Amino acid sequence: MSSLVIYFSRSGENYFGGELKNIEKGNTEVIAEYIQEFDGADLFKVEPAVEYPADYMQCIDVAKKEQQADARPEIKETLDSIDDYDTVYIGFPNWWGTLPMPMFTQLEQLDFSGKVVKAFVTHEGSGFGSSEKDLKKLCEGAEIKKGLSIPGAKVYDSKEAVKAWLNE
Ligand SMILES: Cc1cc2nc3c(=O)[nH]c(=O)nc-3n(C[C@H](O)[C@H](O)[C@H](O)COP(=O)(O)O)c2cc1C
Repeated sequence: MSSLVIYFSRSGENYFGGELKNIEKGNTEVIAEYIQEFDGADLFKVEPAVEYPADYMQCIDVAKKEQQADARPEIKETLDSIDDYDTVYIGFPNWWGTLPMPMFTQLEQLDFSGKVVKAFVTHEGSGFGSSEKDLKKLCEGAEIKKGLSIPGAKVYDSKEAVKAWLNE
C-alpha cells in the first residue's frame, strides 16, 4: 500500500488567535510532514505560479477575489497521475470556507476512481467549512474517509492526533 499527500500550505505572515506572526513553515505543511513520518507517504506540494503575498491582509484579499471569480490559478508544477497510490491524503488551510483555489487547479486534473481519500484541514476556527462538499466533487469515484481538522495554532501539539487518525 503506498500513499501520497497532496497539500497546499503558505508560509509568511499569518494570524494566530488574535496575533499576526511570521512563520517559516506553513501550518498544513507541519501536518503533511507528520503523515510522511508515520505513514511513509510521498509528499506533493501544490504551489501557485504566482506566490501569494506574504502580507496577511493582502493575501486575504487576493484569495477572496480568486474565489469569487471561481479562478483556477496556474500552479508551478502539475501532478499528472496518482495511479501509483492507493491512499491519497489531501491537506489544505481553510481559505474563505474551502480549499485554496490552486488545489482546485491540481485536483481537477486527477482521476480519483478507486482511491481512498483522507482529507485534513488547518484553520482559525471554521474547521472544514464547506470544503467537504467541494472535495466530493473534486475526488469523484473515491472513497472519502473521515477527515482531520486542526486549528493552525495547534499543529505542533497534534502529532498524537495525527497518528491516531492515520490508524483509524
Ligand atoms: C486567505 C486566507 C483565508 C482564510 N480564511 C479562513 C477561514 O475562512 N476560516 C478559518 O477558520 N481560517 C481561515 N484562514 C486561516 C487559515 O486557515 C489558517 O491560518 C491555516 O492554518 C493556514 O495554514 P497554512 O499555514 O498551512 O497556510 C485563512 C487564512 C488565509 C491566509
